[in-house]
Amino acid sequence: MPYIEDDFLQEVLSRNDIVEVIGGHVHLTKKGNNFWGLCPFHGEKTPSFSVKQDQQFFYCFGCHTGGNVVQFIQKQERLEFVDAVRHLADRVRLPMPENKNDKDYSKQRERKEKMYNAARDAAKFYNNFLHEEAGSVGLKYFSDRGLPPTVIKRFGLGMSPSGWTTLNEHMNTLGYDNQLLHEIGLLGKKDERYFDSLRNRVIFPIIDHRSRVVGFAGRVLDDSMPKYINSPETPIYNKSHVLYGAHYLKRLNSISHVMLVEGYMDVISLHKAGYLTAVASSGTALTSGQARLLKRYCDYVYICFDGDSAGQKATWKAQDILHAEGLKVKVISLPDKMDPDDFASQFGMAGINEQIESALTMNDYKISIIEKDYDFSNEEQRKDYVIRVCTEVLSYIEAPVEVSMYVKRIHLKTGFEEVVLNQEIDRAKKQHQKSDARQKTIVRQKRTNETTSRVVQSSRNKTAKDHGAKGAARLLFTLSMNHKDCAEYIVENIKKEDFEEGVHQQIADLILTRYAQEKSIDAPNILGLLDEVAVSELATALELPYELDERMMIVTDCVSRLKSIQVQRQIDNITKLLKDPMLEKSKRIEYMNILSKINHR
Ligand code: CTP
Ligand code: MN
Repeated sequence: MPYIEDDFLQEVLSRNDIVEVIGGHVHLTKKGNNFWGLCPFHGEKTPSFSVKQDQQFFYCFGCHTGGNVVQFIQKQERLEFVDAVRHLADRVRLPMPENKNDKDYSKQRERKEKMYNAARDAAKFYNNFLHEEAGSVGLKYFSDRGLPPTVIKRFGLGMSPSGWTTLNEHMNTLGYDNQLLHEIGLLGKKDERYFDSLRNRVIFPIIDHRSRVVGFAGRVLDDSMPKYINSPETPIYNKSHVLYGAHYLKRLNSISHVMLVEGYMDVISLHKAGYLTAVASSGTALTSGQARLLKRYCDYVYICFDGDSAGQKATWKAQDILHAEGLKVKVISLPDKMDPDDFASQFGMAGINEQIESALTMNDYKISIIEKDYDFSNEEQRKDYVIRVCTEVLSYIEAPVEVSMYVKRIHLKTGFEEVVLNQEIDRAKKQHQKSDARQKTIVRQKRTNETTSRVVQSSRNKTAKDHGAKGAARLLFTLSMNHKDCAEYIVENIKKEDFEEGVHQQIADLILTRYAQEKSIDAPNILGLLDEVAVSELATALELPYELDERMMIVTDCVSRLKSIQVQRQIDNITKLLKDPMLEKSKRIEYMNILSKINHR
């Protein structure tokens, strides 16, 4: 079977909304948080087939079939895994990676692994050099810009030597060949000769959301040009899916919002001030891949770009992209053409919080930008202003109350009657509908608005005390898959062997292993890797209600419950063995010792 890369599978899963896909085969009705329909896999008259949009899986309470979107297609279309993935990839016009045989794939994967290692080793080299005598100019540069050692460490900042081949030679001694180093952008090549791409520059390693070093940016220490040299797009650095600063988000438990900024130094200065959820799109315009990455962490984004016209354009574009991916957006405009770096250094966390408080909604921001182009004392200009606001902003707003609020405001500002403004909006709407491209965005916006937020089911306040080992295990699964703080506690405190049933061990093993590999442990990913029995068990677990606020208490409760059940079982086993009159004396002593150890724990 050809191998499907994890990243590609993620992309397929994230672009194929399960409700849309299944909705194409089964008539679904929304009830509460779930969608319901008649199960296509067994005959029934009352719906017991449920689809959960927030967790992206389906489950039939009648025939116990369940899984993620790929498994649905496998069953529905009777396809092998790879063909089901292809089917879904085609559905969203995503080209399948080249079909190659297994051997090529594993070779390719090995090589990629080597590239990641090389990037990490290079980052270490640059960081070490920063702390050497020869690299101390870099350290001075950072400390002149106010960065303390903790922040330097957090971002793995470094310095590149001024020699042409210093990094090259070092990496060769670690066993990396020049071809590979060239492929990940560390070496340049001219006339068959390799040289270090980054020389005499301070280094910002680019770290992806899985905490892997994937590329580098080197900044000059003075005002010479170019200011930055960035790694090119490489097999390990897909620029449209990497956000600078995102590696830190994973460490945080609950993220209320992130701030999208333009520069590396902006992210870093904000961190220094104590604002830890800043990210930057590193020198390229924001992409929808990056927006989807953010969506994994939270729903609110504050855009804080430079105040110049390029920054304004980028803000407008970024807003539309974020909005289309279902994120809620506000805009911060800093005073006096400051950038977030200047602002954070000068006003600290208090200032940042004030800016967050007074951020503009997306529509207010857009209107404020348009306003700047017009002179309101001139009627002709007032008319042009109204047309632009109606066409570019108001016609995209879906909530009638919101439209009416703006219509009132514009009426007061320009004197044009509200009826007329509404007509203007309708005209613009019709105009958009004509354009195919526009149509697409509207559908997309509508879809994301309908997406139910990831809220936990009704809470019946049950803790592990009400459950046996089975209940405790199930609660641990659903909690670990839904909450980062719970996952962290669970993987640190539990082993596969702490679970009693085989199917629970299988699920636990998968969660623990993937967590250790920093792979996603959300429902569609885990479900996608289990057999039918385990899918059914896990789907049941994911239905369990719990009190959100008490989740950590439930977790500790369940963990200690499983542990004590294990201990009791050990005691029972040994007691049974000790009852054997033929037991050897040495064995008897050994068992007694184990028992007394358990009792003293
Ligand atoms: N950038 C780039 N190449 C350049 C200039 C800028 O790739 N020649 C990208 C970098 O990702 C940079 C971002 O655009 O972080 C924002 O640019 P700028 O505001 O000029 O840089 P800062 O990171 O703010 O750097 P500094 O404060 O050190 O001037
Ligand atoms: Mn700057």
